[in-house]
Amino acid sequence: MSDLHFDTDWLRLRFPFDEAARNREVEAACLRWLGNRSPLTILDLGAGLGANCVHLGPRIRGDQRWLLLDHDERVPAAGFEWMAERLSAAGYEGAWDGRQGWWADAGHRLEVAYVTAPLDRLMETVSLSEVDLVTANASLDLLSWKQCEALAGMLADFRLPLLATINYASMSFEPMGTADLPITGLYEQHMTREQAGGARLGKQAVSLLEELLEQRGYRTLRKPANWVVGPDQPEMQGALLAFMERALAEMELMPGMVAQWEAWLELRRAEMARGALTIRVRHFDLWAHPA
Ligand SMILES: C[S@@+](CC[C@H](N)C(=O)[O-])C[C@H]1O[C@@H](n2cnc3c(N)ncnc32)[C@H](O)[C@@H]1O
Repeated sequence: MSDLHFDTDWLRLRFPFDEAARNREVEAACLRWLGNRSPLTILDLGAGLGANCVHLGPRIRGDQRWLLLDHDERVPAAGFEWMAERLSAAGYEGAWDGRQGWWADAGHRLEVAYVTAPLDRLMETVSLSEVDLVTANASLDLLSWKQCEALAGMLADFRLPLLATINYASMSFEPMGTADLPITGLYEQHMTREQAGGARLGKQAVSLLEELLEQRGYRTLRKPANWVVGPDQPEMQGALLAFMERALAEMELMPGMVAQWEAWLELRRAEMARGALTIRVRHFDLWAHPA
């Protein structure tokens, strides 16, 4: 798995944590703005398995057409299976084929289609003049500065509102340790490393996008959306520690620093094994709309 192609097991694992963390005030502001409008076309950036459609679809009143943009070719098949399972558990009936699906309950209908393309080709692949709302969950931190600026420009040109949820801000551990700060600092540095298309913005993405949109006359609301990964959630704790291990192993560090993070990781895994570890991952949710 690379940072730009995500393991679908990871997307399934993180979903309930995102669900619990989403900031209700930010979401309510978006839902109020949409009101009773129907039908709506919603463009989801970095859609993965369709987490935003599954979460927001039932909460938005009107009929909806979801365009799920993701550059990963493997995602649509797994995404439709997953959405079907989740939406049927929420009382929807529907059907899907390789690229499109629909689900309906007594109140409204959701039509869902994947757009398998990179964000950089958004203008060629999606007719933005038909879109009413742009969403992105856990995707902004993967943007480069150039992509972030281009996105702000496109949103403003088409006067599109944005709901961007679960944008990484920081993480901490309990019990606390003196090595936590330098080690999470390295992990965050790895998030922003140079990759094809330029360095990623990591935790700076959400505030930069907010600022760029405010400069273009948008009103914004940004609030915390935090995961608490407790001792009874070892699978998620293990996944988070594995991400850190992989990131740190890819960095060129002094041997002393390598020994420090390896010892730190061993300690954290031992705490996890005896049910003594809590990991907090802080995020921000952002709602931005043209004034
Ligand atoms: C962390 S996952 C989040 C997925 C989903 N929004 C969720 O909440 O489960 C990020 C997603 O963005 C996609 N992605 C990353 N970079 C992209 C790009 N430049 N263009 C389109 N999709 C991208 C990945 O394939 C992945 O599915």
